[in-house]
Amino acid sequence: MQQNLINIAYLLASVLFILGIKGLTSPRTAVRGNLLGAMGMLVAVVATLLDQHIVRFELILTGIVVGSLIGAVLAIRTPLTSMPELVAMFNGFGGGASALVAATAVLTPEMIGDVPPIQLYTASVASAIIGAATLTGSLVAWAKLQGVLSMQPRGGFLQTLNFVCIAASIGLGVYYCYDPTALWAFWGLTAAAALYGVLFTVPVGGADMPVVIAILNSLSGLAAAATGFVFGNNVLIISGSLVGASGFILTQVMCRAMNRSLWDVLSGDMGQVAVGGPTDDEVYKGRVKSASAEEAAMILETARSVTIVPGYGMAVAQAQHAVRDLANKLKAKGVKIRYGIHPVAGRMPGHMNVLLAEADIPYDELLDMDQINPTFAQTDVVIVLGANDVVNPAARDETSSPIYGMPILDVDKAQTVMVIKRSLSPGFAGIPNRLFAADNSLMLYGDGEKVVRELIAAFDQ
Ligand code: TAP
Repeated sequence: MQQNLINIAYLLASVLFILGIKGLTSPRTAVRGNLLGAMGMLVAVVATLLDQHIVRFELILTGIVVGSLIGAVLAIRTPLTSMPELVAMFNGFGGGASALVAATAVLTPEMIGDVPPIQLYTASVASAIIGAATLTGSLVAWAKLQGVLSMQPRGGFLQTLNFVCIAASIGLGVYYCYDPTALWAFWGLTAAAALYGVLFTVPVGGADMPVVIAILNSLSGLAAAATGFVFGNNVLIISGSLVGASGFILTQVMCRAMNRSLWDVLSGDMGQVAVGGPTDDEVYKGRVKSASAEEAAMILETARSVTIVPGYGMAVAQAQHAVRDLANKLKAKGVKIRYGIHPVAGRMPGHMNVLLAEADIPYDELLDMDQINPTFAQTDVVIVLGANDVVNPAARDETSSPIYGMPILDVDKAQTVMVIKRSLSPGFAGIPNRLFAADNSLMLYGDGEKVVRELIAAFDQ
């Protein structure tokens, strides 16, 4: 009877997870989706705590208290701009937890309920391999995002080592399932997978990080699903598979956005290493023009169409509310306003959409890359607000550039481009941007929020 109730609760939780993910597919329903997902999690946690297989509640309680404390401190202290680092850590902890559960299961198989041994051991092997690779890969991704690790080793040797690690993990996994007393094989496969996690993430650089974050997210879900099989726990299998599948879809979106193949990601062959690219002086010296807010406002006065392209700098400056005010001012003068959103602008998927939605900017003004690119040639003014890599023409035509091949927003095709940023410093990929020196570009130097407010003030004069 109790088991039936638990299964019904798990079913309910799974339905809530699925509805939650469905809600998250559109900004309009995202908040409701989030709530449904959280409710599903609550139902799943309560049902699990009622499960008769729970041996020691005090251990669970300690875990909840310690985990919540660490989570709360991290969440409160992390600024919105460091969200990707936090997400990388979450993915890593998810993978690490799955690997630890797998290790506990193989060390004390008698504690696991009535799960067939072949399921227990194969699932533990899968959980350890995917979980360990996710943990170490996420730690490297975190270090890269944080800027504490910049090395980008490449080459055939690294790829060979990748394949050796994968082959070793799978080979040892098969052997361990054949002889579950051979614990050395289990530790060996976990170590080989952990090394693979480092090796496939460490070459990633330039602007390719979003692809890797998406795949680590997917892997953390798959590791959890495998852990579900270790215990025969349906809700963990379903929720893990949902994370795995949605992470996989996100990976495909990111691969398309960066023009990379999934194979490039998994084999550790990502993008180009910057060799002998132009220096800042070669790109900028004597060519960059700057303008004051008053001069820029005069150009905007005569514009009929304006497209705003936000990037990471808008997030840093928290300029979205000022942007809305500027857009309203221009709309009142009959100007057509659009926003061009690059899929990897900012530092996390949907970063710009979230910020603009927070400022109540209408969704139908937000156009993605395929929709907005054909319009630039007929646009009077593009305002690039704290974006850099996603508008860098080097991605189109400099074969040696680390971002070569990444589709960009073709803002340089507009009649006038106003770039708002604090200096000529590079973006995430660390390379100069020819757009800033183009004949039709004007730099408006300063903090994004401050400059947009100055533009508004210049209109009011
Ligand atoms: P970036 O290329 O990183 O450029 C951001 C620019 O914002 C910088 O050049 C910076 O110049 C400027 N900036 C910073 N603070 C500012 C402020 N307070 N006011 C005004 N400007 C400010 O940004 P992007 O074009 O959005 O491209 C995103 C990059 O991040 C891509 O390379 C992408 O691959 C990578 N990435 C994306 C993700 C996801 S999932 N979206 C995850 C990880 C990495 P100044 O310092 O001169 O002001």
